[in-house]
Amino acid sequence: MKLPEELLGAAEAYRKELQKKINIGHELIYLSQDDVKRIPVTPAEILDRTEKALIAYSAKKVDMPSKIALHPITDTFFHAMPAYVPEEFAVGLKWGSCYPGNREKYGFPQAQGLIIYSDHLSGLPLAVLDCKYVTEIRTAAVTYTAAKYLAPRDTETFGMIGCGVEGRQHVKNIETVLPNLKTIYIYDIYENAADKLIADYQKNSKAKIVKAASYEELVKSCAVVASATVAAEGYHPVIKDGWISAGQTILLCEGHTLYEDAIFKRADKYIVDSREQVEQFTAYGFYPFGHPPIHAETGEVAAGKAAGREKPEELIIGNNFGMAVEDMFVLRLLFDRALEHNIGVRLPL
Ligand SMILES: NC(=O)c1ccc[n+]([C@@H]2O[C@H](COP(=O)([O-])OP(=O)(O)OC[C@H]3O[C@@H](n4cnc5c(N)ncnc54)[C@H](O)[C@@H]3O)[C@@H](O)[C@H]2O)c1
Repeated sequence: MKLPEELLGAAEAYRKELQKKINIGHELIYLSQDDVKRIPVTPAEILDRTEKALIAYSAKKVDMPSKIALHPITDTFFHAMPAYVPEEFAVGLKWGSCYPGNREKYGFPQAQGLIIYSDHLSGLPLAVLDCKYVTEIRTAAVTYTAAKYLAPRDTETFGMIGCGVEGRQHVKNIETVLPNLKTIYIYDIYENAADKLIADYQKNSKAKIVKAASYEELVKSCAVVASATVAAEGYHPVIKDGWISAGQTILLCEGHTLYEDAIFKRADKYIVDSREQVEQFTAYGFYPFGHPPIHAETGEVAAGKAAGREKPEELIIGNNFGMAVEDMFVLRLLFDRALEHNIGVRLPL
């Protein structure tokens, strides 16, 4: 995809402004995870950027080839995730990995990686940064976007399965899109992860956060259920079809891992971030029984081009596996702000 001719002037003007703050071609900005976290942005800005990314993707306004994937050990992956967003003058590549055994084996979170962010006019690198925080905030913002369009606004119960990096970020700001929540149920196979989430976030949450005793209690108690655990190969469902009711909204970060296949096959609407990506992941074996018919992409629903929730009794599944375009939309904001606040370390090229 090419930069539209009519945007060339604006693109050159933006680059001129950048050149005042970074000597393009001679240096790049390195942003550690702590640096990225220090960049002043609001949750509302991240939600806005992420929603725009989903819409732009589905409107085919971005260049985003499929992820290139390597799977060195069972349940692990590396993804090379490039994207170019002409209208944002943003281009880059995330080299991300997921190693679910990391915490137990090496004491690190499972999702790791770096992003290279570049100048689309000259091809020169602008920044290299740790990708964990960008991934964390944009992934939760994808779930918020899905909740905004697929769940009833007056939802009172939200359930989070997995209380790690993603689960914590999901719970942190879910009330911005589901403002009437009374109870947030959480569940993790490591009880101390759930305890820590409550200790850290209850004070800022209007809803009461409670530990569910089991998957069954959580899914039977919540109108909206999200999960961020492990994207596992094979089929070992722990959530039974019989526990799921009409009217629920189920939002997945890690594919179908936890759920019985029948749940997806009987859903009234199955909505995904990218049709192309679902086909790709089906070929990798993540959906051993195939995927259900896809009603729409999340970005089509957010743009009003496809229906989200139409009736209270619909069972709706949102399956968002994550896209580089979300990283690039968020990164354009973070990079501009980092330069503005002189955050990061300058390294010679
Ligand atoms: N969709 C996306 O864009 C996207 C982006 C980043 C991560 N992810 C996925 O989200 C998932 C979570 O990532 P993370 O960074 O939060 O990892 P994490 O390791 O920080 O947290 C995972 C949590 O889930 C818990 N857990 C593991 N298996 C469980 C199970 N069967 N039932 C209940 N709890 C379980 C772990 O104890 C841990 O607390 C991963 O599968 C990752 O691939 C998706």
